Amino acid sequence: QAQTNYRYTLASDVRSLLKPRRKFSHKGLYGHALLLSGGFGKMGAAVLAARACLRSGVGLLTVHAPTAGYTILQTAVPEAMTLADKHRKHISELPDKMENYNVVGIGPGIGKDKDTKTALGQLLATTSLPLVIDADAINIIAGSDRLKAQLPRNRIIFTPHPKEFERLVGKTKNDYDRLEHLKEFCKEYSCYVCLKGSHTAIGTPEGRIYFNTTGNAGMATGGTGDVLTGVITALVAQNYSLEEACLLGVYVHGLAGDLAAQKVGEIGLVASDLVDHLPQAFLTLA
Ligand code: APR
Ligand code: MG
Repeated sequence: QAQTNYRYTLASDVRSLLKPRRKFSHKGLYGHALLLSGGFGKMGAAVLAARACLRSGVGLLTVHAPTAGYTILQTAVPEAMTLADKHRKHISELPDKMENYNVVGIGPGIGKDKDTKTALGQLLATTSLPLVIDADAINIIAGSDRLKAQLPRNRIIFTPHPKEFERLVGKTKNDYDRLEHLKEFCKEYSCYVCLKGSHTAIGTPEGRIYFNTTGNAGMATGGTGDVLTGVITALVAQNYSLEEACLLGVYVHGLAGDLAAQKVGEIGLVASDLVDHLPQAFLTLA
């Protein structure tokens, strides 16, 4: 029976993962994350991911975005450093000095321009950093057998919603079939996948699946996925293992949603409310 491979994540599980801040620590010890995010008309995705990353304890954050996003990011997220791509509307290149970072989060708002596909291919081929891959970065990989074939092993977290997941692994017949595909994909590519939904399912390379227990229907609104990308990227930057970053990140993201819903209700909840409640979520957990 494969039954034992299914688990629920409870507060007690993730609480034990949380690393307290050390008194004499400095920002250099909490990682430097790079987010490749945003596109013309989709800079909100980059702003949300960046703000969430900063609210999840990252030491330093650099966001690489299209030129048109430069002023937006510098204004909306003063804590983040911003690098401007040479292209105005989409990401078309990787930043210099990739060795400065210890994790890359890529996807929210990036679109699927030809240049963006090339830059993503270059990222997969050249860096040895852990990668958090979301949204159109998933769609680009799903549409290219060449990119799929060159996915590095043991250092990728994918965060697809169900449609992105099906583009990546193929059509699934029902919920059970979807979980079987999740298990197989994680094994085949030795990667982690946070398959998002009302109970997000986290697949591991060993074939385990964890179901999250936090979150609510107020989170069914644009931008909440971008927030998750920022949270998980920040945790990987802080040297949580990929598995810990998935479990803790998904749990805390849902908890922030639950705390936000206690204040504003589910109907009026927006993605920024999640970011604003991340600090309280981490506090509640600790
Ligand atoms: N209960 C609990 N959590 C939920 C619920 C629900 N009913 N509905 C959604 N969520 C959570 C999911 O678990 C996930 O973490 O909200 C988040 C939604 O993420 P996405 O589906 O990626 O949505 P988002 O990224 O905000 O959408 C904006 O990005 O990925 C692209 O195609 C996507 O165009 C869309 C854009
Ligand atoms: Mg999304």
